[in-house]
Amino acid sequence: MSVLDAPSRRRRKVPAAVTGAGLLAAWGALVVAVPHVPTSTDIRPVALFVHLAAVVLGFGAVLTLDWFGLRWMLGREDLTTVVSVARVVQTPIWVGLGVLVVSGALLSPDTSAPLTVVKLLAVLAVTLNGQWAGRVQERLVALGGARPSRRLLGAAVLAATVSQAGWWTATLVGFVSAQR
Ligand code: HEM
Repeated sequence: MSVLDAPSRRRRKVPAAVTGAGLLAAWGALVVAVPHVPTSTDIRPVALFVHLAAVVLGFGAVLTLDWFGLRWMLGREDLTTVVSVARVVQTPIWVGLGVLVVSGALLSPDTSAPLTVVKLLAVLAVTLNGQWAGRVQERLVALGGARPSRRLLGAAVLAATVSQAGWWTATLVGFVSAQR
């Protein structure tokens, strides 16, 4: 057995429930902390620009992935390509989401407003779904190009649907809130 094969050097997989609980706790901390984040009118335009740039980065990457997924379902792309794209877009999606949370907190969101609550729930859904979608992706990779079962296919479609619904909801709520 080589050094790299030793159990201590193997990449340990964190159970989904543990990651999910961590993300839920981080979201709870965000909701509690947001009203106390110090902001100023000087910083607002910068925060808004960064927020919008992060929408472009994160949502743009999500749309790219879902476009490849749709093409795969229509038989115009193979699964290997879709899985490769999914791997590549992970970083912009999670970086975009992280920057959205930080810049959003600097925009003085009113957490007592129902629209803001809807938006924060959409962000939670996108986050937890993103973690679950990663697991679905791993199972697709493990197929090595073979045809996925109906169950796995259903899981992939559900993950893409929840992702689209969450990102569009957050975008729409952000837009509506900015008009008030
Ligand atoms: C998927 C995540 C998110 C997306 C896609 C998103 C999208 C947007 C969009 C499109 C706007 C409109 C900007 C404009 O038209 O000027 C906006 C504004 C805003 N967002 Fe987000 N956002 C997200 C996450 C968050 C989070 C996590 C927070 C809070 C922690 C937040 C707080 C705000 C606030 C306070 C505004 C400004 C509303 C106003 O001008 O009164 N956003 N967002």
